[in-house]
Amino acid sequence: MWKKWFSRNSKSSNESELNSLDPLKIPQHVAIIMDGNGRWAQRRGLLRSFGHRAGVESLREVVKVASEIGVKVLTAYAFSTENWKRPDEEVSFLMSLFSEYLDNEIDELDQNQVKIRFIGKIDELAASLQHKIENAQTRTNRNSGLILNLAVNYGGRAEITRAVQIIAEKVQSGELNSQDISDYTIQSSLYTQDLPDPDLLIRPSGDLRISNFLLWQLAYSEFWFTDINWPDFKPKHLIQAIRDYQGRERRFGGIKRS
Ligand code: IPE
Ligand code: IPE
Ligand code: MG
Repeated sequence: MWKKWFSRNSKSSNESELNSLDPLKIPQHVAIIMDGNGRWAQRRGLLRSFGHRAGVESLREVVKVASEIGVKVLTAYAFSTENWKRPDEEVSFLMSLFSEYLDNEIDELDQNQVKIRFIGKIDELAASLQHKIENAQTRTNRNSGLILNLAVNYGGRAEITRAVQIIAEKVQSGELNSQDISDYTIQSSLYTQDLPDPDLLIRPSGDLRISNFLLWQLAYSEFWFTDINWPDFKPKHLIQAIRDYQGRERRFGGIKRS
């Protein structure tokens, strides 16, 4: 089992950070745009690839802590449908990093009951990576702990387009009447069909945008931005974000409860 992150770090400010959280208001689903790897590296005079590698460490820690705190779903944006625009060298590096991540982490994730899932156009990835993804999903499918949802070759618009195609085919075949298309029909045609919408979206790196992430699902999520780059993002930042989230009032279009 994972050595408890908080006990390893006890007596530090992290423990009091954790105690400041309301255990009854832990967000069920946290989504993270893992951004700022390149800038982190460039500021240190390093190649961008070093930033991506350092970013994997942040993900490892955040997964552990999210699971420990009781978050049910963690969705991490690792590669967008637009990231293919980057130089070939960077794209291949990222693809091999995903593959390496699965090789190195699968045992520990599995032992800790993490259920790994991928969202995005997985069928456009290299066959060897697809194979590893398939194995990781199958192997951890019955796990009962944190759902780690990795968004690779993911785009919110592509996801909605795919949902429209799925629905159009059902209408065309007569299985569905167009009058009966509802929010629910759309939601259940997304990659995240069986997951709750994110309660909290975190974006590090200082950029204030969502970059084609979970366009449908983020409708009522709380947003938390920080200037810290992803490789510097530590468990204490996750706790900070959750604490801020716990102090917010979510109205979903209603009015303040008296
Ligand atoms: C996020 O970091 C990782 C991916 C998009 C794959 P970036 O590589 O976007 O880093 P910056 O934003 O250029 O600093
Ligand atoms: C979003 O970051 C995608 C991921 C973190 C995987 P980008 O770096 O691609 O986003 P933009 O280009 O700054 O909007
Ligand atoms: Mg970026």
